[in-house]
Amino acid sequence: ASALHIGIAGLGNVGAGVVKILAQNADLVARRAGRPIVVTAVSARDRNRDRGISLDGIAWVDDAAELATRDDVDVVVELIGGSDGPALTLARRTLGAAKPLVTANKAMLAHHGLELAQMAEAADLPLKYEAAVAGGIPVIKGISEGSAANRITRVYGLMNGTCNYILSRMEAEGLGFAEVLADAQALGFAEADPSFDIDGIDTAHKLSILAALAFGAALDFAGVACTGIRAIESADIAQAAALGFRIKLVGLAEAEDGRLFQRVHPALVPMAHPVATTMGSLNALVVEGDFVGRLFFQGRGAGEGPTASAVVADLVDIARGDVRPPFVMPVADLAALPRADAAGR
Ligand code: HSE
Repeated sequence: ASALHIGIAGLGNVGAGVVKILAQNADLVARRAGRPIVVTAVSARDRNRDRGISLDGIAWVDDAAELATRDDVDVVVELIGGSDGPALTLARRTLGAAKPLVTANKAMLAHHGLELAQMAEAADLPLKYEAAVAGGIPVIKGISEGSAANRITRVYGLMNGTCNYILSRMEAEGLGFAEVLADAQALGFAEADPSFDIDGIDTAHKLSILAALAFGAALDFAGVACTGIRAIESADIAQAAALGFRIKLVGLAEAEDGRLFQRVHPALVPMAHPVATTMGSLNALVVEGDFVGRLFFQGRGAGEGPTASAVVADLVDIARGDVRPPFVMPVADLAALPRADAAGR
């Protein structure tokens, strides 16, 4: 079968990782996809940076938005980041040009996911975003496919590797917040603006996407009550441990009495709970369904390999002919779930 030609916007860690996987596992991916997946065009800020990948034979495009209309691009992978700006322009143009879109951009989806899903649904196009939530953990598939038979009652967990890493090291080494943050940044999984991590905004982005998917609700990022981990001190962690708990930055969404509750805050998790034993930069997610019961997902939620792995999985789906519009935010039958008064809980 003919190759699927992809254009990648943004060649940071994740973009370079996608190029790497598609080169290194080309045969395996082609077998699973039923045809080769080939990068034909890329766009990034710095043309000369050494990324440890070969871009031979790949067209270099200065304006990312051009990827949407190039004849040699069948699918656009948006890895620019940022809720608006060039990422959003590219996303709109791609769907407007009747091409499938794959994105890892949780901020863009949290703010504009409903609009983009409506565009995709109207044009019958896939909009895929496995990489946007919890990196390598297939939680979007886990909810939309694995739990498709279920009425989901609750989704919660650790969706920010930076916060989990900081809290884990504060506990293990009694270090202060600021010392550990610098290391998390050096490891490369903190957001460009680390306040997005430590103030819970990144978790809130991801939670709003999961909640829309799990509950068929209109995506409502503004409805997430959000507190980060800035105020946590080593003494709090030690005190919690003495009582049998671990402090984690938990994002939780539940539908109750026809209302949607979404909140992100440091929580005391019983020490034996699988969320509490998830340490370091790992992410953990719990999905509860009425027939399946409690599902637990754990793995690497950030970084080049895991996030690129999720992007390539989405590309394999598209190459196999998965042209379904996003199951997330099923625009046609959005449940009218009023936002809960988070302060009332
Ligand atoms: N800054 C995020 C994290 C990256 O630390 O988990 C993955 O979205």
